[in-house]
Amino acid sequence: MSKKFYITTPLYYVNDVPHIGHAYTTLAADILARYHRLLGEEVFFLTGTDEHGQKVAQSAEKKGAPPQQQADQMVIQFQQLWKRLNVSHNDFIRTTEPRHTQVVQAVLQQLWDRKEIYAAAYEGWYCLPDERFWTEKELIENKCPDCGRPVESIAEQNYFFKMGLYQDRLRQYIKDHAQFIQPEGRRNEVLGFLEKPLGDLCISRPISRLTWGIPLPFDKNYVTYVWFDALVNYISVPGYSTDSGRFKNVWPAQLHLVGKDILTTHAVYWSTMLMALGLELPQQLFAHGWWTMDGEKMSKSRGNVVDPNQVVETFGVDAFRYFLFKEVPFGQDGNFSHAAMMQCYNSFLANDLGNLVSRVVSLVNKFTEGKIPKPGERGEKEQEVEAIARDMHERVDEAMRSLQFHRALGEIWKLVDRANLYIEQMSPWKLAKKGTASEDTEKLRTVLWTAANTIRLIALYLLPFMPETAYKIRKTLGLPDPEEMDIERAWAFSFAGCAVVINTALFPRMEEVKSASVPQEAVPVFTEPPVLDISTPLITIDAFKKLDLRIGEVLSAEPIKGSKKLLKLRVNAGAEFRQIVAGIGTKYRPEELVGKQIVFIANLQPTQLMGIESQGMLLAAGAEKVLGLLTCDERIPPGSRIR
Ligand code: MSP
Repeated sequence: MSKKFYITTPLYYVNDVPHIGHAYTTLAADILARYHRLLGEEVFFLTGTDEHGQKVAQSAEKKGAPPQQQADQMVIQFQQLWKRLNVSHNDFIRTTEPRHTQVVQAVLQQLWDRKEIYAAAYEGWYCLPDERFWTEKELIENKCPDCGRPVESIAEQNYFFKMGLYQDRLRQYIKDHAQFIQPEGRRNEVLGFLEKPLGDLCISRPISRLTWGIPLPFDKNYVTYVWFDALVNYISVPGYSTDSGRFKNVWPAQLHLVGKDILTTHAVYWSTMLMALGLELPQQLFAHGWWTMDGEKMSKSRGNVVDPNQVVETFGVDAFRYFLFKEVPFGQDGNFSHAAMMQCYNSFLANDLGNLVSRVVSLVNKFTEGKIPKPGERGEKEQEVEAIARDMHERVDEAMRSLQFHRALGEIWKLVDRANLYIEQMSPWKLAKKGTASEDTEKLRTVLWTAANTIRLIALYLLPFMPETAYKIRKTLGLPDPEEMDIERAWAFSFAGCAVVINTALFPRMEEVKSASVPQEAVPVFTEPPVLDISTPLITIDAFKKLDLRIGEVLSAEPIKGSKKLLKLRVNAGAEFRQIVAGIGTKYRPEELVGKQIVFIANLQPTQLMGIESQGMLLAAGAEKVLGLLTCDERIPPGSRIR
């Protein structure tokens, strides 16, 4: 039987829409789930929403809606976002579903019957946002020791779980199992926390104060504390107390991924609950860091909460997935900024990976009739590339097993860089030029096969991180759908003869004008209706061929005195520079044009406009008004011909 891998994310509160923090944990889990599937393991990846409790009830109340309605509306936002981010969870649990609530009640009943839960009067302090009780001694300057917000005094009868009973056992367990809580620093924090006496856990809320929760099976005047309810999802979904066969196969979880703020609830509440139930503990709890935005804590009031939808809109799903895990070692805090995202996109994705793939595919297209060739004898350089690829396999595996995603990506990029260098060194275009000597054609085939095989392997290792990109690379190499894409078989896979497919650039270079937070109003509104009737006279292909259309790059642009419309551009046209006068001043400011790639007619008779010579004409869309310039979806060497 294959090895199993059960991985979970926290259940997200449905009091608000998802943000980058929620996406972060979920994507980390997705990367691991996909990786373990590649290893051929039986993966069960669970995520979902935490729908009960005061937070959700309050946010519903503010909107004047019933809490269930609030949950029903908000859960869609999470589900849609996961779909958009290509999250491959196997199940999605909502804590309001009967398959969960019945298990929570069964757990409560068992613990009540076994006297692990008791009733007692409670008097103390309560932090509403954290939904936690504190003793007088625990408060810091009369505020919640956890979040620093004001607390309220509470005196009421409640039910308690005998958590304190398990303190020594838990401390010993953590000491004996070094991998149980990771990273190391967080493990020490939990051990530190367990040095102080551990009280019992209040697991009920009287319905006079809160009705939005699962009723206690043994006292209808109370609902269950939201954390006690939500944590049970990790066993309710695999079938605890409902499907013992399945439960035995799935539990214990290999990994609970959590943010650092909810490590204690998992390491202490959840572990002791499992001990009381006589169940095994999960193999690992891993606490990741927090994201800030432009160096500041994200909050609604500051208006700086990063919306994953917007980032994806601008940069694409895979760039977002890549950035989150390349930028920051998993476990540490990270900072999100538009500039860092742009820089990461352009240099690692557009330049390194994107260029590598488009280069290899166009070389195969040009020199081996669009088919992946059979390699000849491999030389020293080919062996070097292969050694790096084999090394990558070992190192990526090691990094993935310790959740060091940034290291795994670094290893993959070593191969990307080496492949780019290899192409430079071997210059297949020179081999092709040298002629038809059989050793030259054999070398050319070997070089192109090695380059193509390298990107095939890169795509395989990138699959967990950037699934869409991995599939696109496979497609462009003419590979079939990826059923056989498991690491073991991938090494042995032969793909000579596959026909490459030329596609648009994977990561077209991005320019600074595109912003992650372009306000809605800035989106252009087209006032000119599209012209659909094309009734111009026909021309022959020869007439078209007379046009010498080229790519140019704007080096400078300035207004022309006396004209609102005309701008004088200096254009890099490859072998020469051109001065072009263009009537685009009503659409573009001169500074917006610098660095832009344009399409221009290079063999147009020079002419004078407002007394200034124009040595070409650039192409723009729009009959009366300029709607936009014609440009390319990736950077092309200036002077390149257009056919
Ligand atoms: N409902 C509880 C979890 C119950 S698990 C049985 C909860 N929900 S939450 O929606 O508030 O947070 C869920 C996760 O989002 C936590 O792991 C938290 O660390 C993470 N993040 C929230 N803001 C974050 C950042 N700014 N950065 C990174 N992750 C953050 O807690």
